[in-house]
Amino acid sequence: MTHRQDDRKILITGAGGMLGTDLVTALDPHFEVSGLEKRPVAHLSVPYDICDLTQSRKTRDAILSCRPNIVIHTAALTDVDYCEDHHDEAEENNVGATINIVDACNELDVPVIFFSTDYIFDGSKKGPYSETDTPCPVNFYGQTKLRAEQYILEKAKRAVIFRITWLYGIWGRSFPKAILRQAAEVKKMTVVNDQVGRPTYSWDVAQAMLTVLRDKRDVMEAKGGEIFNLGNEGTVCWADFARFILKTADLGAVRVEDIPSTQLKRPAPRPLNSVLSLEKAQKVLGLKLRPWKEAVTEFLPRWKGEKEAQEQKAKAQAAEKENIA
Ligand SMILES: NC(=O)c1ccc[n+]([C@@H]2O[C@H](COP(=O)([O-])OP(=O)(O)OC[C@H]3O[C@@H](n4cnc5c(N)ncnc54)[C@H](OP(=O)(O)O)[C@@H]3O)[C@@H](O)[C@H]2O)c1
Repeated sequence: MTHRQDDRKILITGAGGMLGTDLVTALDPHFEVSGLEKRPVAHLSVPYDICDLTQSRKTRDAILSCRPNIVIHTAALTDVDYCEDHHDEAEENNVGATINIVDACNELDVPVIFFSTDYIFDGSKKGPYSETDTPCPVNFYGQTKLRAEQYILEKAKRAVIFRITWLYGIWGRSFPKAILRQAAEVKKMTVVNDQVGRPTYSWDVAQAMLTVLRDKRDVMEAKGGEIFNLGNEGTVCWADFARFILKTADLGAVRVEDIPSTQLKRPAPRPLNSVLSLEKAQKVLGLKLRPWKEAVTEFLPRWKGEKEAQEQKAKAQAAEKENIA
């Protein structure tokens, strides 16, 4: 049995999402963790309330009745192309929900940790983006995340914003899973080679949050808001990232053909340069995430194991149902 070292209550929004689930797993042994989710999530291992965060009254009630010491707000509408075609929904989920959470946190006088994105930049800079560079999003998702940031910086009594980038993890949709799914069906695939970023493992972000919450309380408790970039070390384009995934998964025979972004007809444009400078988080918080290749190498077998376990569980449940019938 693990023993909690800290009795602070942490409330995680989007607790069943990609980052939310890893945060739950990383933080639960150390803190009293609970969650908020839009609908029931079978894999969630901590108590959680169902709450649509776009509903201000319900969100306020859920947060005030939980009385957390810190809220970690990961919930968002993260499908970038869907956001481009559904502006109202994106605005409500990414900006409206954040306003509701910040207002409730202010009432309780507790800090909020928010996750933002490299997509607040237009990608035209030569070299990594620092926290002080001027945002200029090229898609609607990026615009909503920027408006959420701005509300936090203007209104939150205490807040920390982590801008993360090219996230992947065990739970939810992500690039490595899409590549492996395609590789099961084709011998050749096309991937863009002119967008560069830092593939970032959500488990490593969750571990970094554990460090911040345990050892960097002063940052959390400071008045106002502070922004930090966070990501695994190293940079790569999507096509080379795909090649590395395939090689590591022993699927090196599947060919990746480079294409420019202009050939990929998607509703939302993406920045060509998504590389965020990691200097500030290293200097101020001592956070240095491992190189992205190391993280991917650990992720792939872990995800395979989790997938097999889920499949076995589903089979056992189906067999049990048949027996009962
Ligand atoms: N994924 C990336 O590459 C990336 C990159 C940079 C930054 N980020 C940011 O990092 C954070 C975490 O991303 P992620 O990829 O872990 O997200 P995710 O897997 O899409 O999870 C988001 C979770 O939030 C829930 N949610 C959405 N709207 C909600 C609402 N109105 N009320 C209650 N719950 C709601 C979703 O529930 P449903 O699934 O039921 O809708 C889902 O469980 C987000 O803030 C995102 O903007 C992500």
